[in-house]
Amino acid sequence: MTILDGKSLSIKIQNDIKKEADALREINITPGLAVILIGDDPASHSYVKMKEKACYETGIYSILHKMPSSISEEKILETITMMNENKNIDGILVQLPLPSHIDTTKIIEAISAKKDVDGFHPYNVGRLVAGLSGFVPCTPLGVMRLLEEYKIDVKGMNVCVVGASNIVGKPMMNLLLNAGATVDICHIFTKNLKEHTKRADMIIVGVGKANLITENMVKESAIVVDIGINVLANGKLVGDVDFENVSKKCSFITPVPGGAGPMTIAMLLSNTIKSAKNR
Ligand code: GUN
Repeated sequence: MTILDGKSLSIKIQNDIKKEADALREINITPGLAVILIGDDPASHSYVKMKEKACYETGIYSILHKMPSSISEEKILETITMMNENKNIDGILVQLPLPSHIDTTKIIEAISAKKDVDGFHPYNVGRLVAGLSGFVPCTPLGVMRLLEEYKIDVKGMNVCVVGASNIVGKPMMNLLLNAGATVDICHIFTKNLKEHTKRADMIIVGVGKANLITENMVKESAIVVDIGINVLANGKLVGDVDFENVSKKCSFITPVPGGAGPMTIAMLLSNTIKSAKNR
């Protein structure tokens, strides 16, 4: 069994990004990312902190717009318009989820598709579905980059994606399909999850349910990618996979923490650099 070490790869990628940011600065371009954080969800605050730290370490300028959960939709839209027009900003990220009185679609659609480093704008979603270039959501993009590093080619593989969110599952499905995999996508209404996971050469799971994937659901020598993040009552951070038992059975597996998580941040930086190069 080989550990898919996202932590090490993300450090390597961040070092390359730092060099790219330095090169851009030589031609008077400082890559810039604007982050909009609304409300006081502790997980969102923690993710944003990590993103800002990574920007700082790689020489990407970042600006944080922190807003209370009572903020109006108009005020957020105003900030987005300002960032769309700001020539020093290459990427705009609105941390999700948003408070319930805010229309998430309206907010995402207000972001210029050219600065949509999260790849959530329908323009970029459509381009991904059509197999065209554009911004791709960071978590699934990070998974593909991690697999590539370990020379895992998904072409012809049966891949089971568990979770069908717009942020992870759906773009993951499209990237895999574009790369030639046969994709089975499971979700909350899937009747017999085990039936699907058991026949998969690769399982990619990200639903936020600790121990959802147990050893009896995994084929011998399968590849397992865990995108889940759960905090147990004792404060321990775990994924969606019963790592201790599943890891004994598979050929490759991502740890949590240190697998898909750090790759997500590396891809956000990479998308921001890509946007800065388009200036
Ligand atoms: N919430 C959970 N994951 C993400 C992400 O990748 N981007 C944003 N903007 N919000 C998130």
